[in-house]
Order: sequence, then structure tokens, then C-alpha cells
Amino acid sequence: MCGIVGYLGPRSPLQILMEGLHRLEYRGYDSAGVALFHQGAIEVRRAQGKLSRLEDLLRGEAFDGRAGIGHTRWATHGRPSDDNAHPHKTGRIAVVHNGIIENYLPLKEELKAKGRVFTSGTDTEVIAHLIDEFLQQGVPFREAVKEALNKIRGSYALGILCEGEPQTVAAARKESPLVIGLGDGEFFIASDTPAVLNYTRDFIFLEDGDIAFITPQGPQLEDLSGRSLAREPQRIHWSPLMAERGGYKHFMLKEIHEQPAAVINTIRGRITEEEGEVILEDFPYQRKGLEEIKRVFLVACGTSWHAALVGAYLTERLSRIPAEVDIGSEFRYRDPLIDEGTLLVAISQSGETADTLAATREARRKGGKTLSICNVLGSSITRETEGVIYTHAGPEIGVASTKAFTSQMAALFLLALHLGRARKIITQEEMRGYIQGLVEIPGLMKRVLEGAGEIERLARKYVHFQDFLYLGRGVSYPIALEGALKLKEISYIHAEGYPAGEMKHGPIALIDEDMPVVVVAPKDHTYEKVLGNIEEVKARDGRIIALATDYDPMIAAKVDEVISVPTVHPLLSPFLTTLPLQLLAYYIADFRGTDIDQPRNLAKSVTVE
Ligand code: G6P
Repeated sequence: MCGIVGYLGPRSPLQILMEGLHRLEYRGYDSAGVALFHQGAIEVRRAQGKLSRLEDLLRGEAFDGRAGIGHTRWATHGRPSDDNAHPHKTGRIAVVHNGIIENYLPLKEELKAKGRVFTSGTDTEVIAHLIDEFLQQGVPFREAVKEALNKIRGSYALGILCEGEPQTVAAARKESPLVIGLGDGEFFIASDTPAVLNYTRDFIFLEDGDIAFITPQGPQLEDLSGRSLAREPQRIHWSPLMAERGGYKHFMLKEIHEQPAAVINTIRGRITEEEGEVILEDFPYQRKGLEEIKRVFLVACGTSWHAALVGAYLTERLSRIPAEVDIGSEFRYRDPLIDEGTLLVAISQSGETADTLAATREARRKGGKTLSICNVLGSSITRETEGVIYTHAGPEIGVASTKAFTSQMAALFLLALHLGRARKIITQEEMRGYIQGLVEIPGLMKRVLEGAGEIERLARKYVHFQDFLYLGRGVSYPIALEGALKLKEISYIHAEGYPAGEMKHGPIALIDEDMPVVVVAPKDHTYEKVLGNIEEVKARDGRIIALATDYDPMIAAKVDEVISVPTVHPLLSPFLTTLPLQLLAYYIADFRGTDIDQPRNLAKSVTVE
């Protein structure tokens, strides 16, 4: 989730770009850069690290052009470094990009065969080369941009400058947000409105497939085939802070709603629907070593540990490799039995959690194979494991993890499928079925999120209770744990998650009308048993909020409240059952007026023991 800003107009482009980049810092960054015209040529300055490093680099410099583009990078392909920072310039073209180019490797090979030299490890650089290659063949700039975009697969928001066109900023969007700000004789592009809200409140929101060529006369919009488009500008009334959160009251709520996109981005480019294949580029044991794996250890902390529990379930079911889960701080001190037949999977949003990092070191020291599932490119844990599956959830700002969790589950699902297929546990036909099911998940997640209003009403009713119990079985047990964790983290209400079958061994003593019981009860092979647990709670005057699949009259007749999610393959149900629990915790906390994005005593990344 990089940040893009661009300017064309009479003011100093550099000043506007730097201001915009500062305002986009919340999107996360590991490097930044700008491209500006000076004496007809495009000058690029970029630096790894904080924006102040770029500012140091630019100190005392002046640029006489009227157009510029800038970028804060949040790495997805290629580690954070000066060379991988944007803009990428080659020949006459400079490009800033947010998104993922799926077919960059074959395009890169093609371009290299034509003698083109690449200087970064990014997917973005191929875009600059492609456009420049067309220019060299005599294709005019605007056509060259369209030709290049027609060759690209994946997602992008782009800002493009071309030497010889000092009065033009080109912009394009597909599945990554980009807006055009309309000022008085000046124009802006930005991945998000807050970047330039100080200068204008009038915006054109580009849609997928739109290309804009912005000149002093204004933006001209076209589609990929060159047909001109008309898009009505809209006026923004949000405050700059509201705008950073995309109009949501908190980052956590924004991130809850970003989950369908986060799951799409995590599976993008890693599956083929027709062949029924999972391709994990950075999984090092695809060809060698896979047959040696006799046991999988999944290690993590906090919410990531809940993803690990789901992951172990998926791994055993789909690949029939024994899978065990541990908490980072426990694993490192238990003198675990590890050999070359053990695959340790470290799961971490930040990649910096001290205990998870120590667990990976312990596994390596003992000769185990190591893999991380991580959201932050180049973070410590990814550097210390032999392989990485990145979740592409974008930066998570809210301390309570949401979109990282569902993206981790998506990555774990892909890993389990990959192992299962490689070991011939699942047939190609079954594989196609699972992949099809996974592909449908983001759309169904959107549907569940559309029901947020109903959950808000429910939250209002339950805001005054002091204790909650969350129950689930099988793959829904970790989801019960996660639901309870979300509630206690942000609302400070006492909440416990339990395997529903264990209720009789303790928690049942607590049940009365003052302790609501949230039961995660999708239709799977444990369903009947869960119905039994519901009866047991009801017999003790407990109040039940049930999470069921579609309309479930059996459950509706027995409980106080029902939240329904669509029916999916039982192994995929966690993607849907998680969402209402996140929303329930969020709205209860909001009614209680807590500091949702930064709950007391908690930290986003725990880098000490
Ligand atoms: C902290 C955060 C949690 C997170 C956990 C693990 O406790 O508050 O939201 O789940 O750390 O973090 P990681 O970055 O390793 O996933």
C-alpha cells in the first residue's frame, strides 16, 4: 500500500509533493522518492528510510519544471532499499506505482532479451521499460502508455512523467485507488485525498481501467482502448484526519472493511483457477526438500497465533502432515524436538515480534526448515527464515489486528493446498474446487460486511455486560478465541474463548443471564455437538448470540440473537465468521468510548520479551 502524489501547476511541485508524502505516511513507508522536471530533463531523488532522509538529499536543490510525481513505498516486491525506491526512471520515462504486477517476471525476461538493463528488484520497473520501449519504436507517449498497460496483468495506481512532455502528468488505475484533485489552474494526483486536501476539495475518483493525461488544460480521461471518458468531480467534506481513514471513524473499522481486498491481494498471482494450482514463489521447498517434511510447527503470538491454530487445522486436513501449534514465548523455552524433517512456520504481521523471531532462530539452530508468513517486506523474521509467503494486506495501523489475520489465513490455506497437492493427498479436481471456493471468499466477505449496521444494533444491546464467553469447535474454536481477544483488547470487557466441548469442564459454572455466550456455529461436522452446547447454556438461563450459516431455524429457535453468514466449504468458514466478531467488538468498544486504534497498555509490535 504505497502512497502516490503528483502535481502540475504554477507552484513549486517539490514543496507540494513533500507535503503530500508527509500526509500519506499513515499508509506506511520504507523509502520515498520524487521525480521532477529540471531544464527539460526528469531528475529523480530517492532514499530508503524515513522521509527526512529524502529531505536531506534534496536540501538546497531547486527544480524549474511545473510537474512532478512522488511516492512513499511500502514494499511488496524487492526489499526496502534506495534502488527499489520509486520513482523508477528509464530512458525518457519515470513511474511511481502502487499495486502488484502479476506478470512482471515474463515481461522482464522479454525486455531483458531486447537488451534492457534492470536496476531494481521491483515489479514496477517493467512498466517504465515497457513504455520507454514503445517510445523508442516511435509510438507517441499517450499511445505508449496504453500499449504498455494492455500488456500488464495485476493491480496498479500509476503516476507517469515523460521527458519531452514537461506539461503532462499521466495517471492510471486498476484495483488500486487513485484520485485527481482539481485546483484553480493546477492539478494533483494522489492515492488518497488527504495528500492534497489543503489545496483542493474537488476530486475525480478514477475507476478501474481509467487513464488520465493531465495538462494545464485539465485532465483528459480515456479507457485502455483509447475511448474518452467523462467522470463527474465530487466535493469532499471530510476533515483531513477523517480522510486519512477513508471516512471511517477509526483505522480499525477501515481495516475491517479492507479485508476482502487484502485477501484478494494475498491470493493474487498465486493460484491458477483452470489448472487448479497454487504457486508459492518464495516457498523454497517446492522442488527439493518437500518430501522430507514430516511435521509442521506453526509458531506465533496474539492474533497471529489464532491464525496458526486455523493453519494447523488446514494443514492436517488438506496435506495429512502432522501439525502442531505453539506460542512464540513458550516454544523457545521448551527445548522443542526439531530436525530436518520439521518445517517451522512463523506467522507474524509485523515480522518483528521478539518471541516469534526467537522461535525461528531456535528452529534454525536445530536444523529445521523455516518459513514465515508475514505482512512487512524485509522485516526481521523474513530475513531469518529460508522462505516467505507475504500477506499483501497493506499496512495495518489499528493495534487490534484484523485484515492481517484474514490474510494470514488465506496464506495458510494456500500453503496447506500446496502441500496437500504435492503429496497427492488432494486430487487436481478437489484442488480446483478449493481454489474456486477461496476465490469466491472476498465477494462473500463483502456481503457479510454489508450487514455491519445489524451488528452495530446488537452491540448497543450488549454494551453493558461485563463478561463474555465465546465458544466454537474445530476450525471455529480459534475464531472463538479471536472474537474474545478482539473484545477484551479494545473494549476492556472480560472475555474468554473456549472449545465448546470443554465448557462442561469449568466455564459452565459461570453461566447465568449476566454473561452472554457467543457461539460460532457454522454447519460442519461439529454442528450437532454445538447445538448440544447451546442447549446446555440455555438450560442455565444463559443468553446466546449465535453465529450461524444462512438462515438456520434450528438455531434461531433456541438462541437470543442470530448473526448469519453465507454457507461455504467448512474449511473456509473462518473467513466469514471472523468478520461479525470483529465488528461486534468494534461497536461495543465504540459505544464504550475507548481508544480503539490505540488501546491502553497494548503495542502494535512487541519487540521485547
Ligand atoms: C501484539 C499486537 C497484536 C498482534 C501480536 C503479534 O500483541 O497487539 O495485534 O497479533 O502482537 O504480532 P505480530 O506482528 O507478530 O503478528
